[in-house]
Amino acid sequence: MHSFAYRNGSLHCENVDLESLARQHGTPLYVYSRGTILDHYRRLDASLGALDHLVCFATKACSNLAVLSALAKEGAGFDIVSGGELFRVLQAGGDPGKCTFAGVGKTRAEIEYALRQGIYCFNAESEAEVAFIDRVAGDLGVKAPVALRVNPNVDAKTHKYISTGKSENKFGIDFSVIREAYARAAALPNIELRGLQMHIGSQLTSVQPFVEAVAKVAPLAAELKALYGIRFFSIGGGIGIVYRDSLQSGPKTWWNDQEEAERPLTVETYASQVVPHLQSLGLRILLEPGRYLVGNAGVLLTEVLYEKRGSAKTFKIIDAGMNDLIRPALYEGHHEIVPVREPAADAVPEKVDVVGPVCESGDFFAQDREIAPVQPGEMLAVLSAGAYGFVMASNYNSRPLPAEILVDGDQAHVIRSRQSFGDLIAGERIPE
Ligand code: LLP
Repeated sequence: MHSFAYRNGSLHCENVDLESLARQHGTPLYVYSRGTILDHYRRLDASLGALDHLVCFATKACSNLAVLSALAKEGAGFDIVSGGELFRVLQAGGDPGKCTFAGVGKTRAEIEYALRQGIYCFNAESEAEVAFIDRVAGDLGVKAPVALRVNPNVDAKTHKYISTGKSENKFGIDFSVIREAYARAAALPNIELRGLQMHIGSQLTSVQPFVEAVAKVAPLAAELKALYGIRFFSIGGGIGIVYRDSLQSGPKTWWNDQEEAERPLTVETYASQVVPHLQSLGLRILLEPGRYLVGNAGVLLTEVLYEKRGSAKTFKIIDAGMNDLIRPALYEGHHEIVPVREPAADAVPEKVDVVGPVCESGDFFAQDREIAPVQPGEMLAVLSAGAYGFVMASNYNSRPLPAEILVDGDQAHVIRSRQSFGDLIAGERIPE
């Protein structure tokens, strides 16, 4: 379920009219639906009811304090990948005792910070890292809770930049040597082996690779429980969302039926296929979803600035750029683009490129795509922008970061102000 739909001729997020919101706060503007985030969290949590489980939101997907706080209040844990993310989680009221710390390059400062805060577990990605965590924990006079990340060598069948579970990826420890790695880690004085972790990739739209990986790794988890008393098995994140045809409101019209719809991987399907492999383990099962919880809960609102008719193409130039949402440029990610004012049912679509103002040819949101006929001054919504949207935004071309809004029913809260020009140069100095 998500809460973006046309009502009375205008796109709404829950009960808030996005046209007025964009006029009031300016564009580009990120807007998230609190109800959608919570609905997704509760559905996933409920689908795992048969297991002792903890859903750890992959903070990297959308790390605004208000979003983290909403999830923390629901009881969520957090998967973090940096000291900065741990700081955010703590500021948002998250429980460090429900935090797992992933990533291939943890620094001494980050490990010390996490140990002092009492996180649930480090998910270590190499033996060198385990040895280092052991040293840092020894220096602090504590034992570090550690899980090793196993690389199961399963093809996630997703974009190569977000596939992580094959031997050629930099992540995790090879399945073929993981038992030896556990044996060596068990001998370290300041390590408490607490779990096993894996994550095969992101935006998986079929359940089959998950099942393959879980079926392959669950027996290993059982073995490690018997040998070292590990307590949890984290099966990672990666549940994919629908990017195409994601505005599921009203009758099908050309503007939401132009491409073949992706088949949604529902959490119910996911759970029904995966849970049976995990139930008999007697371990706590962790999940690390990012995109599933927030992806379709956010949009990026943008104004059409100009139209440019070239000899080969027509360009709609908008006020959002690749610095605001990099997914199309970086992964050729598809995001639906719809007018905020509902187009007439008989409106004639136009084949255009939707491009941003940044000085790069890669700065596009859509190429040769049929969209509604919009004029300069009108607003567009780039859909499914809640995950890996704002968090990957940059100041490239000295463009201030957009504001973020969290909608809750008929309330719209500014959860991050738009950056000013002053913010752009904060911390910079000209030497005497
Ligand atoms: N756990 C680990 C260890 C991860 O590396 C990730 C994502 C997740 C969980 C959450 O995955 P999710 O449930 O969101 O698929 N920027 C890219 C996605 C990068 C994913 C990185 N790791 C994108 O925009 O598609």
